[in-house]
Amino acid sequence: MKTRTLRWTAGWALALAVAFAAFGPERSAVADQHGKVMEERSKLMKGMGGAMRTLKGFVEGRNSAEEASQAAAAIAAAAPKIADAFPPGTGMGADPKSESRDLIWEKWDDFTAAAALLGDKAAALETALASGDAGAAGAAFGDLGKNGCGGCHSVFREKR
Ligand code: HEC
Repeated sequence: MKTRTLRWTAGWALALAVAFAAFGPERSAVADQHGKVMEERSKLMKGMGGAMRTLKGFVEGRNSAEEASQAAAAIAAAAPKIADAFPPGTGMGADPKSESRDLIWEKWDDFTAAAALLGDKAAALETALASGDAGAAGAAFGDLGKNGCGGCHSVFREKR
C-alpha cells in the first residue's frame, strides 16, 4: 500500500515536471509578447503626446513653424501604425494596467476609422502650417487634439 502511494506520488511529480516544462516557457513567451505590445503601444502614443506638446509650443510662440511641421508629420506617420499596436486580447480585460476598452475589438472598424481620422487631421494641419496662415494652423491644431486624439480616447480609452 505504502509503495503504491509513493509510486503514485512519483508519477504525479514526473507528470507535473513534464507539464511545466512544456507549459512554463510558453507561458512566459506569451507574457513577453504582451509586454512588448504594451511597450510599443506606449511608445507610439507617448511619441504623439510629445509631438502635441511641440505643436502647442508653436501655437504659444515658443517653437518654430519648422518644428511644428515635423511634429504634424510625425503624427501623420504614426496614425497608420495604431491598428497594429492593438492586437486582440491586449485590452483592460486581459491586463489591469491597460487603459484600452475591450470595445476596441468589438468595434474594430470604428477604431481603425478613428485612427484614419487622426491621420487626416494631422495632414490637414501640415497643409495649414505650410500655408503660413497662423489662424488656420491654430484651428487645425485644436481640431487635431479634440477630434483626432480626443475622438478616439473619449470612446476607446478608459483613463485611470
Ligand atoms: C484610434 C484610437 C486612438 C487615437 C487616434 C489616439 N489614441 Fe492615444 N490611446 C488610445 C488608447 C486605446 C490608449 C490606451 C492604451 C493602453 O493603455 O492600452 C491610448 C493611450 C495614450 C497615451 C498613454 C500612453 C501610456 O502608455 O501612458 C497617450 C500619451 C496618448 N494615448 C496620446 C495620444 C495623442 C497625443 C493622440 C493624438 C495625436 C492619440 N493618443 C491618439 C487610443 C488612441
